Amino acid sequence: MKNQNNLFSLNKKTIIITGGAGLIGAAFCRVCAENGAKVVIADTNLRGGKKLVEKIKKETGNKNIVFSRCDITSEASIKSLIKFVLKKFNKIDGLINNAYPRNKNYGRKFEDVTYKDFCENVNTHLGGYFLMTKETARIMKKQKSGNIIFMGSIYGFSAPKFEIYEGTHMTMPIEYAAIKGGIINLTKYLASYFGPYGIRVNAISPGGVSDNQPESFVKKYVRYVKLAPRRMTMQEDISGVLLFLLSDAAAYITGQNIVVDGGWTL
Ligand SMILES: NC(=O)c1ccc[n+]([C@@H]2O[C@H](COP(=O)([O-])OP(=O)(O)OC[C@H]3O[C@@H](n4cnc5c(N)ncnc54)[C@H](O)[C@@H]3O)[C@@H](O)[C@H]2O)c1
Repeated sequence: MKNQNNLFSLNKKTIIITGGAGLIGAAFCRVCAENGAKVVIADTNLRGGKKLVEKIKKETGNKNIVFSRCDITSEASIKSLIKFVLKKFNKIDGLINNAYPRNKNYGRKFEDVTYKDFCENVNTHLGGYFLMTKETARIMKKQKSGNIIFMGSIYGFSAPKFEIYEGTHMTMPIEYAAIKGGIINLTKYLASYFGPYGIRVNAISPGGVSDNQPESFVKKYVRYVKLAPRRMTMQEDISGVLLFLLSDAAAYITGQNIVVDGGWTL
Protein backbone atom coordinates (compact mmCIF):
# COMPACT_ATOMS: atom_id res chain seq x y z
CA MET A 1 0.00 0.00 0.00
CA LYS A 2 1.19 3.54 -0.83
CA ASN A 3 2.19 5.93 1.94
CA GLN A 4 -0.91 8.03 2.57
CA ASN A 5 0.71 10.73 4.71
CA ASN A 6 0.94 13.39 2.04
CA LEU A 7 -2.13 12.42 0.10
CA PHE A 8 -3.20 16.02 -0.56
CA SER A 9 0.23 17.43 -1.33
CA LEU A 10 0.78 19.14 -4.71
CA ASN A 11 4.51 19.33 -4.10
CA LYS A 12 6.50 19.76 -7.36
CA LYS A 13 3.32 19.63 -9.48
CA THR A 14 3.01 22.28 -12.18
CA ILE A 15 -0.53 23.55 -12.49
CA ILE A 16 -1.88 25.95 -15.12
CA ILE A 17 -4.94 27.90 -14.03
CA THR A 18 -6.76 29.71 -16.84
CA GLY A 19 -8.74 32.71 -15.64
CA GLY A 20 -6.49 32.55 -12.57
CA ALA A 21 -6.82 36.28 -11.97
CA GLY A 22 -10.62 36.10 -11.49
CA LEU A 23 -12.95 35.57 -8.55
CA ILE A 24 -12.68 31.77 -8.29
CA GLY A 25 -9.31 31.53 -10.08
CA ALA A 26 -7.55 33.56 -7.38
CA ALA A 27 -8.73 31.10 -4.70
CA PHE A 28 -7.54 28.22 -6.89
CA CYS A 29 -4.10 29.81 -7.28
CA ARG A 30 -3.88 30.30 -3.53
CA VAL A 31 -4.83 26.71 -2.57
CA CYS A 32 -2.37 25.30 -5.12
CA ALA A 33 0.41 27.60 -3.86
CA GLU A 34 -0.34 26.72 -0.22
CA ASN A 35 0.01 23.04 -1.02
CA GLY A 36 3.36 23.30 -2.73
CA ALA A 37 2.48 23.49 -6.44
CA LYS A 38 4.23 25.50 -9.13
CA VAL A 39 1.40 27.75 -10.24
CA VAL A 40 0.97 29.34 -13.66
CA ILE A 41 -1.73 32.01 -13.81
CA ALA A 42 -2.86 32.12 -17.44
CA ASP A 43 -5.20 35.03 -17.99
CA THR A 44 -5.85 37.94 -20.37
CA ASN A 45 -5.79 40.31 -17.39
CA LEU A 46 -2.13 41.30 -17.21
CA ARG A 47 -2.41 43.83 -14.38
CA GLY A 48 -4.66 41.70 -12.18
CA GLY A 49 -2.56 38.61 -12.82
CA LYS A 50 0.76 40.24 -11.93
CA LYS A 51 -0.67 41.80 -8.78
CA LEU A 52 -2.04 38.42 -7.70
CA VAL A 53 1.36 36.74 -8.20
CA GLU A 54 2.95 39.16 -5.74
CA LYS A 55 0.09 38.79 -3.24
CA ILE A 56 0.18 34.99 -3.24
CA LYS A 57 3.98 34.85 -3.06
CA LYS A 58 3.85 37.09 0.00
CA GLU A 59 0.98 35.30 1.68
CA THR A 60 2.10 31.71 1.07
CA GLY A 61 5.89 32.01 0.90
CA ASN A 62 5.79 29.93 -2.29
CA LYS A 63 8.07 31.58 -4.88
CA ASN A 64 7.05 29.37 -7.78
CA ILE A 65 4.07 31.43 -8.87
CA VAL A 66 4.16 33.00 -12.32
CA PHE A 67 1.84 34.90 -14.60
CA SER A 68 1.72 34.33 -18.33
CA ARG A 69 -0.68 36.34 -20.46
CA CYS A 70 -2.83 33.89 -22.38
CA ASP A 71 -6.02 34.09 -24.39
CA ILE A 72 -7.70 30.67 -24.43
CA THR A 73 -9.40 31.51 -27.74
CA SER A 74 -6.07 31.92 -29.58
CA GLU A 75 -4.05 28.91 -30.66
CA ALA A 76 -0.87 31.00 -30.94
CA SER A 77 -1.33 32.39 -27.45
CA ILE A 78 -1.87 28.92 -25.95
CA LYS A 79 1.15 27.51 -27.79
CA SER A 80 3.35 30.28 -26.46
CA LEU A 81 2.02 29.69 -22.90
CA ILE A 82 2.86 25.99 -23.12
CA LYS A 83 6.34 26.74 -24.47
CA PHE A 84 6.90 29.13 -21.57
CA VAL A 85 5.68 26.62 -18.94
CA LEU A 86 7.78 23.75 -20.32
CA LYS A 87 10.88 25.94 -20.45
CA LYS A 88 10.37 27.10 -16.87
CA PHE A 89 9.01 23.97 -15.16
CA ASN A 90 9.70 21.09 -17.64
CA LYS A 91 6.27 19.49 -17.36
CA ILE A 92 2.56 20.16 -16.97
CA ASP A 93 0.80 18.13 -14.28
CA GLY A 94 -2.50 19.96 -14.11
CA LEU A 95 -4.72 22.18 -16.23
CA ILE A 96 -7.67 24.01 -14.70
CA ASN A 97 -10.07 25.28 -17.35
CA ASN A 98 -11.52 28.16 -15.41
CA ALA A 99 -11.44 31.26 -17.67
CA TYR A 100 -14.73 33.03 -18.28
CA PRO A 101 -14.73 34.68 -21.70
CA ARG A 102 -17.90 36.63 -22.54
CA ASN A 103 -18.66 39.34 -25.09
CA LYS A 104 -20.12 42.77 -24.32
CA ASN A 105 -23.72 41.60 -24.84
CA TYR A 106 -23.42 38.58 -22.57
CA GLY A 107 -26.03 38.26 -19.83
CA ARG A 108 -29.15 39.28 -21.78
CA LYS A 109 -32.60 37.76 -21.46
CA PHE A 110 -33.46 34.95 -23.90
CA GLU A 111 -35.50 37.17 -26.28
CA ASP A 112 -32.63 39.66 -26.58
CA VAL A 113 -29.83 37.19 -27.36
CA THR A 114 -28.87 37.43 -31.04
CA TYR A 115 -27.65 34.46 -33.04
CA LYS A 116 -24.28 36.19 -33.37
CA ASP A 117 -23.94 36.72 -29.62
CA PHE A 118 -25.05 33.17 -28.88
CA CYS A 119 -22.42 31.73 -31.21
CA GLU A 120 -19.68 34.10 -30.08
CA ASN A 121 -20.12 33.28 -26.38
CA VAL A 122 -20.36 29.55 -26.97
CA ASN A 123 -17.32 29.68 -29.28
CA THR A 124 -15.07 31.58 -26.91
CA HIS A 125 -16.00 29.79 -23.67
CA LEU A 126 -16.76 26.19 -24.71
CA GLY A 127 -14.49 26.45 -27.76
CA GLY A 128 -11.71 28.00 -25.66
CA TYR A 129 -11.87 25.15 -23.14
CA PHE A 130 -11.63 22.70 -26.05
CA LEU A 131 -8.63 24.46 -27.56
CA MET A 132 -6.75 24.87 -24.30
CA THR A 133 -7.32 21.20 -23.47
CA LYS A 134 -6.32 20.01 -26.93
CA GLU A 135 -2.96 21.78 -26.80
CA THR A 136 -2.18 20.84 -23.18
CA ALA A 137 -3.26 17.22 -23.47
CA ARG A 138 -0.73 16.82 -26.30
CA ILE A 139 2.01 17.31 -23.69
CA MET A 140 0.27 15.21 -21.02
CA LYS A 141 -0.14 12.35 -23.49
CA LYS A 142 3.63 12.33 -24.07
CA GLN A 143 4.24 12.44 -20.29
CA LYS A 144 1.70 9.62 -19.83
CA SER A 145 0.22 11.55 -16.91
CA GLY A 146 -1.90 14.60 -16.30
CA ASN A 147 -4.89 16.02 -14.58
CA ILE A 148 -7.49 18.18 -16.28
CA ILE A 149 -10.26 19.94 -14.41
CA PHE A 150 -13.16 21.74 -16.06
CA MET A 151 -15.29 24.39 -14.40
CA GLY A 152 -18.89 23.40 -14.95
CA SER A 153 -21.87 24.88 -13.13
CA ILE A 154 -25.19 23.86 -11.61
CA TYR A 155 -26.61 25.34 -14.82
CA GLY A 156 -24.79 22.73 -16.87
CA PHE A 157 -27.19 20.05 -15.66
CA SER A 158 -30.19 21.77 -14.05
CA ALA A 159 -32.76 24.36 -15.14
CA PRO A 160 -32.61 27.93 -13.86
CA LYS A 161 -35.14 29.08 -11.26
CA PHE A 162 -35.91 32.35 -13.04
CA GLU A 163 -37.90 33.86 -10.18
CA ILE A 164 -34.70 34.44 -8.20
CA TYR A 165 -33.62 37.03 -10.79
CA GLU A 166 -36.89 39.01 -10.71
CA GLY A 167 -36.41 42.67 -9.79
CA THR A 168 -32.67 42.61 -10.66
CA HIS A 169 -30.73 43.30 -13.86
CA MET A 170 -29.49 39.70 -13.73
CA THR A 171 -30.62 36.55 -15.51
CA MET A 172 -29.26 33.12 -16.41
CA PRO A 173 -28.27 33.45 -20.08
CA ILE A 174 -29.18 30.69 -22.52
CA GLU A 175 -25.58 30.53 -23.79
CA TYR A 176 -24.42 29.52 -20.32
CA ALA A 177 -26.73 26.47 -20.33
CA ALA A 178 -25.26 25.40 -23.68
CA ILE A 179 -21.68 26.10 -22.60
CA LYS A 180 -21.76 24.38 -19.22
CA GLY A 181 -23.87 21.45 -20.45
CA GLY A 182 -21.25 21.00 -23.16
CA ILE A 183 -18.38 21.25 -20.69
CA ILE A 184 -19.79 18.54 -18.41
CA ASN A 185 -20.17 16.20 -21.35
CA LEU A 186 -16.69 17.06 -22.71
CA THR A 187 -15.37 15.98 -19.31
CA LYS A 188 -16.77 12.47 -19.74
CA TYR A 189 -15.67 12.22 -23.37
CA LEU A 190 -12.11 13.27 -22.56
CA ALA A 191 -11.88 11.09 -19.43
CA SER A 192 -12.69 8.11 -21.60
CA TYR A 193 -10.37 9.24 -24.42
CA PHE A 194 -7.34 10.03 -22.27
CA GLY A 195 -7.76 7.38 -19.54
CA PRO A 196 -5.35 4.99 -21.29
CA TYR A 197 -2.63 7.69 -21.11
CA GLY A 198 -2.93 8.11 -17.33
CA ILE A 199 -4.71 11.43 -17.70
CA ARG A 200 -7.63 12.09 -15.36
CA VAL A 201 -10.40 14.51 -16.38
CA ASN A 202 -13.05 15.79 -13.97
CA ALA A 203 -15.43 18.73 -13.58
CA ILE A 204 -16.49 20.88 -10.65
CA SER A 205 -19.97 22.41 -10.76
CA PRO A 206 -20.44 25.15 -8.19
CA GLY A 207 -23.61 26.97 -7.26
CA GLY A 208 -23.74 30.78 -7.41
CA VAL A 209 -20.66 32.26 -5.78
CA SER A 210 -21.13 35.12 -3.35
CA ASP A 211 -20.00 38.32 -5.09
CA ASN A 212 -21.95 41.33 -3.80
CA GLN A 213 -25.15 40.31 -5.55
CA PRO A 214 -28.30 42.34 -4.76
CA GLU A 215 -29.76 41.42 -1.38
CA SER A 216 -33.16 40.53 -2.87
CA PHE A 217 -31.46 38.02 -5.17
CA VAL A 218 -29.42 36.43 -2.37
CA LYS A 219 -32.54 36.08 -0.22
CA LYS A 220 -34.36 34.23 -3.00
CA TYR A 221 -31.30 32.19 -4.01
CA VAL A 222 -30.61 30.82 -0.54
CA ARG A 223 -34.20 29.60 -0.10
CA TYR A 224 -33.24 26.67 -2.35
CA VAL A 225 -30.06 25.79 -0.42
CA LYS A 226 -30.68 22.64 1.62
CA LEU A 227 -27.69 22.81 3.94
CA ALA A 228 -27.81 24.93 7.10
CA PRO A 229 -26.77 27.66 7.52
CA ARG A 230 -28.24 28.71 4.16
CA ARG A 231 -25.77 30.77 2.15
CA MET A 232 -24.29 31.22 -1.31
CA THR A 233 -21.21 29.27 -2.45
CA MET A 234 -17.87 30.61 -1.17
CA GLN A 235 -14.57 30.32 -3.06
CA GLU A 236 -13.13 28.08 -0.36
CA ASP A 237 -16.01 25.60 -0.80
CA ILE A 238 -14.72 25.07 -4.32
CA SER A 239 -10.97 25.25 -3.73
CA GLY A 240 -11.05 22.31 -1.29
CA VAL A 241 -12.64 20.15 -3.98
CA LEU A 242 -10.07 21.37 -6.48
CA LEU A 243 -7.24 20.35 -4.16
CA PHE A 244 -8.79 16.91 -3.71
CA LEU A 245 -9.18 16.34 -7.45
CA LEU A 246 -5.64 17.53 -8.22
CA SER A 247 -4.09 15.39 -5.51
CA ASP A 248 -3.25 11.72 -5.30
CA ALA A 249 -6.26 11.29 -2.97
CA ALA A 250 -8.33 11.29 -6.18
CA ALA A 251 -5.94 9.03 -8.13
CA TYR A 252 -8.75 6.64 -9.13
CA ILE A 253 -11.37 9.25 -9.97
CA THR A 254 -12.04 10.30 -13.54
CA GLY A 255 -14.99 11.50 -15.65
CA GLN A 256 -16.87 12.87 -12.65
CA ASN A 257 -18.73 16.11 -12.12
CA ILE A 258 -18.56 17.16 -8.47
CA VAL A 259 -21.43 19.44 -7.54
CA VAL A 260 -20.68 22.04 -4.85
CA ASP A 261 -23.98 23.81 -4.20
CA GLY A 262 -25.14 23.07 -0.63
CA GLY A 263 -27.90 20.94 -2.12
CA TRP A 264 -29.37 23.79 -4.24
CA THR A 265 -30.12 21.49 -7.18
CA LEU A 266 -31.61 18.63 -5.15
N1 LIG B 1 -19.02 33.02 -10.20
C1 LIG B 1 -19.93 32.06 -10.11
O1 LIG B 1 -20.97 32.18 -9.44
C2 LIG B 1 -19.70 30.74 -10.83
C3 LIG B 1 -20.56 29.67 -10.55
C4 LIG B 1 -20.36 28.46 -11.21
C5 LIG B 1 -19.34 28.34 -12.13
N2 LIG B 1 -18.53 29.41 -12.39
C6 LIG B 1 -17.47 29.22 -13.37
O2 LIG B 1 -16.21 29.42 -12.75
C7 LIG B 1 -15.27 29.92 -13.70
C8 LIG B 1 -14.63 31.21 -13.17
O3 LIG B 1 -15.67 32.15 -12.94
P1 LIG B 1 -15.44 33.51 -12.11
O4 LIG B 1 -16.74 33.84 -11.48
O5 LIG B 1 -14.23 33.40 -11.27
O6 LIG B 1 -15.19 34.55 -13.31
P2 LIG B 1 -14.37 35.93 -13.31
O7 LIG B 1 -14.97 36.77 -14.38
O8 LIG B 1 -14.26 36.50 -11.94
O9 LIG B 1 -12.92 35.48 -13.77
C9 LIG B 1 -12.68 35.00 -15.05
C10 LIG B 1 -11.25 35.27 -15.46
O10 LIG B 1 -11.12 34.78 -16.82
C11 LIG B 1 -10.31 35.71 -17.52
N3 LIG B 1 -10.58 35.57 -18.96
C12 LIG B 1 -11.66 36.02 -19.66
N4 LIG B 1 -11.53 35.69 -20.96
C13 LIG B 1 -10.35 35.02 -21.08
C14 LIG B 1 -9.67 34.44 -22.19
N5 LIG B 1 -10.16 34.49 -23.43
N6 LIG B 1 -8.48 33.82 -21.95
C15 LIG B 1 -7.95 33.77 -20.69
N7 LIG B 1 -8.55 34.33 -19.62
C16 LIG B 1 -9.74 34.94 -19.82
C17 LIG B 1 -10.69 37.08 -16.97
O11 LIG B 1 -9.68 38.04 -17.21
C18 LIG B 1 -10.89 36.76 -15.49
O12 LIG B 1 -9.70 36.98 -14.75
C19 LIG B 1 -16.06 30.10 -15.01
O13 LIG B 1 -15.93 28.95 -15.77
C20 LIG B 1 -17.48 30.22 -14.52
O14 LIG B 1 -18.42 29.85 -15.50
C21 LIG B 1 -18.69 30.60 -11.76
